[in-house]
Order: sequence, then C-alpha cells, then structure tokens
Amino acid sequence: METGEPSRTATAVARARAQHQVADEPRVFTDPFAVRVVGEAALGEGEFDQGLDPDFVRRRRMWIAARSRFADDAVAEAIASGCRQVMVLGAGLDTSALRNVHSDVRFFEVDHPDTQRWKRHRLAEAGIAVPATLTFVPVDFESATLAEGLAAADFDRARATVFLMLGVAAYLTHPSLTATWRYVAEQGGPTALVMDYLHPVAGAAAAALGERAQRVAAAGEPWLSSFTAGELRDELLGAGFSTVDDRSAAEVLGHYLGRTVTDSLGSGHLVRATVA
Ligand SMILES: C[S@@+](CC[C@H](N)C(=O)[O-])C[C@H]1O[C@@H](n2cnc3c(N)ncnc32)[C@H](O)[C@@H]1O
Repeated sequence: METGEPSRTATAVARARAQHQVADEPRVFTDPFAVRVVGEAALGEGEFDQGLDPDFVRRRRMWIAARSRFADDAVAEAIASGCRQVMVLGAGLDTSALRNVHSDVRFFEVDHPDTQRWKRHRLAEAGIAVPATLTFVPVDFESATLAEGLAAADFDRARATVFLMLGVAAYLTHPSLTATWRYVAEQGGPTALVMDYLHPVAGAAAAALGERAQRVAAAGEPWLSSFTAGELRDELLGAGFSTVDDRSAAEVLGHYLGRTVTDSLGSGHLVRATVA
C-alpha cells in the first residue's frame, strides 16, 4: 500500500460484494451493509476491472461473495458451539462485525493502520454505527507481530476464537504469514482459521490473472505469496494446526449454488484450518 493511503484492493473487494447484492442471481451472500459501506456511487466498474472480460469479472465477484458466505457459515457454526470471539485479520471494509447480532460475541478487526483509519472514517460518513461489541486493532503485519499489536487490546488468548483472513494472504510476505499462522494456532480453546490464498493457475485463466496482478501491483499492493494446496497444508500443519480443509473456488461456489461449477476462478482456494 502507498504510505498513508488506505488499501485500494479493500475497496475493490467490498465493491464486488456490493455489486453481488444487486447484480447476481442467485445471490450466495447477503449483506445489508455491503452497498452502504462502499456507497452507491461505487456500484460502477471497479478500478482494477476496466477492460477485462466481463465474464472473468463476474466469476471473480461470485468467488468473493462465496468466500464471505463460507466465513459467515464458519462463524455461525462456531458461535453455535459456544465460541464468543471472532477476529477479522486484514478486515478492510468487511462487515461481519456490523452484522453480529450476539451481544456477548466480541469482534476484533485487525488491519493496517492507514486502512483502518479510513474505514472508521468511511463508516462515520455512511452513518453506520460501530457496535459496542467491535474493537479495532491497528497492526501492520510487516512491521509488528499480532501479539505485539494485540497486547493492549482486551483479547482473551485463552478463549475459543474464529479467525477470518479473506483476501489478505496474497499481500503478505512469507515471514509475516508464518508468524500470523503460529499466533493463531497457539490460541487457547478450539480455534478455527478461515483464509483464502492464491493458487497458481495455467492456461487462459493465467492471462486474466496476470493482468490483474499488474494492476494491483501498480496500485502499490503487489501479490507477494501464492501456494499450491499441498504447500499450504504443510505450512499450516507446521504452524501447529491439526486439521486443514482445502477447497477450490469451484467447490465452494458449487456447494452454495447446489450444482457443479466448472467455470470458477482456478486461482481461488479457501482453507478452514482448526486446532482442537
Ligand atoms: C483485498 S483487501 C481484503 C479486505 C477484507 N478482508 C475483505 O475481504 O474485504 C486486503 C486487506 O489486507 C490488508 N493488509 C495488506 N497488507 C497488510 C499489512 N501489511 N498489515 C495489515 N493489513 C494488511 C489491507 O489493509 C486490506 O484491508
């Protein structure tokens, strides 16, 4: 990210979720805050989508919606099992905390200080109240560890927690990812991490992806990490997780659409890793 500037990719994915509310049928992810948080003016073409194959843009939007739905489901399942803490890492304009209806479930949003400052301003501008259950924690993963960032926050290291990390791993270096995974795996109580990552692709999909990679890099947010499913599994088990459930974008989307999906983004993969 450009120093002092908020993440532009955070706006891009939030805009995709907003467009999903109004443009896609069937809708796999419902978010009453999605349009409000970006503003209706942002429903037009996204800055990284200009000139790209509209079908690629739609498939990417469906994937972004599906991964948020998957995260919502994981949070709901954990809450039903007694979990009372949710941490959203690299939160951007994610609205999970705004949609929380449980007064005893605490959300923590961790993000780069510049992006988090902008989000708080954006929420105020949109007239969206910050719930009492939400705590903001500014952390730059590349210059501080989660442990350092959370030291002053009222986060209970001994309690069951769901960690969400959507659209973030690609932007972090390997050392900061490893440090983050270790911190998450060492959380006391049943722990779940839901994260997506960039999986290498070949063929036609690689060209559209390469174009997008160039655009986000030019905006100061280069993709720094990608993994095969086997590599990521080894990384997570090595960091201390005991189970790793890895799904392709097509599998995740197909699950919510109730049919086989063959045209989803090959580069999208989602993982749910747990420690009992
Ligand atoms: C593509 S956005 C995803 C935002 C959000 N998770 C979502 O799905 O809407 C990437 C997020 O990663 C955050 N991020 C990137 N590099 C970071 C860093 N070094 N430290 C903290 N957050 C970072 C950005 O601020 C941004 O919020």
